[in-house]
Amino acid sequence: MPINIYKPYLSLKRTYKGGITKDELSTIGLKIYKLSSNENIFGASPKAIEAIKNNLDLLNEYPDRTDEKLRIALSKHYKNELSADHFIGGPSGSEVLDLTIRAFMDHDLECIVSTPFFLPYQMFSQWQNAKVIDVPMNPSDWSLDVSGILNSITDKTRLLFLTSPNNPTGSYIPRVELEKIINGVPDHVIIVLDEVYEHFADAEDYTTALPYIKEGKQIIALNSFSKAYGMASLRLGYAYTTPKISAYIRQLAKPFLINRLSLEAGIAALEDFEFLSSTTTKIKEERKWLYQQLDHLGIKYWQSQANFILIQPPINDDDFVKKMLSQGVMVRPSANFGAPGNIRVTIGDREANEAYINAIKFIIG
Ligand SMILES: Cc1ncc(COP(=O)(O)O)c(C=O)c1O
Repeated sequence: MPINIYKPYLSLKRTYKGGITKDELSTIGLKIYKLSSNENIFGASPKAIEAIKNNLDLLNEYPDRTDEKLRIALSKHYKNELSADHFIGGPSGSEVLDLTIRAFMDHDLECIVSTPFFLPYQMFSQWQNAKVIDVPMNPSDWSLDVSGILNSITDKTRLLFLTSPNNPTGSYIPRVELEKIINGVPDHVIIVLDEVYEHFADAEDYTTALPYIKEGKQIIALNSFSKAYGMASLRLGYAYTTPKISAYIRQLAKPFLINRLSLEAGIAALEDFEFLSSTTTKIKEERKWLYQQLDHLGIKYWQSQANFILIQPPINDDDFVKKMLSQGVMVRPSANFGAPGNIRVTIGDREANEAYINAIKFIIG
């Protein structure tokens, strides 16, 4: 018998590929509106772009050895409510997620997710040969099954993935629900609260993990520069948590993990409150406008706290994606996230949103 050199648990059934780029499209001569990857249509902070220009002569030199400079800037950005020791920086939210999962998951250990969710939670956990337990959300309003989650915890559970606002549903976890979970988990379970869309949330009872981490709760709050900061191509992200967990996870960071341009752009972007607030104000305004348009067209959608809206298309999801593309609008089916039949559409500027609404009008005739 030949010896099998391949790890059987690396043959994953469901993998996450990320949305396609405009370059991968064969549509020629049509203006393309990319509303499929939750990017910031308003670009990136001019201060971040300036910081990149100022560092272009140094591409030949290694960057900082660690994420320390970013962590110091983050502490300042959080008005010193957290110290630099609370943070973990890395080349994207996904990478910090992977570091976290590598630090805590192992063969025979378990984590909990709630369908529909950002697939990398499952995929990266399976890379560690860990078991993924799914406690699905209620599909009528995408609320969490809090008691189901708490009842699924065993001695082997280490990570509990929560996302607020959630991708792909746009739903959020109200403060009361979050506190039920925080107060209900035993000490051996760490909550990963993915808040990469937090800047777009405006519900009164929305909360990030900040107040709880300040109290010393074992939560890892995941953040990214890909969304409101408009820096998806630079791959920069971070998390904040207790100093003990942060130091533990940072042991896994490779030297020179964050490239110079991303690091300098990220630090500059953190200081550009103007760009952040103009982006989030415009997206929230457009979100309301889109609700009106979708209501008018009789398209079912779920209210969103993020920079995208999940809709139930009037025709089969795959056909809808193709027909939208024929009108130059890229949208994302949510089947791979565990919400089959629905479509996630990023909120753009008025021009892109009008193109999207006109494309639906074209489809429904
Ligand atoms: C819920 C959620 N978490 C994390 C990420 C990771 O973001 P990035 O790796 O671009 O920083 C994304 C990206 O789409 C996301 O939707």
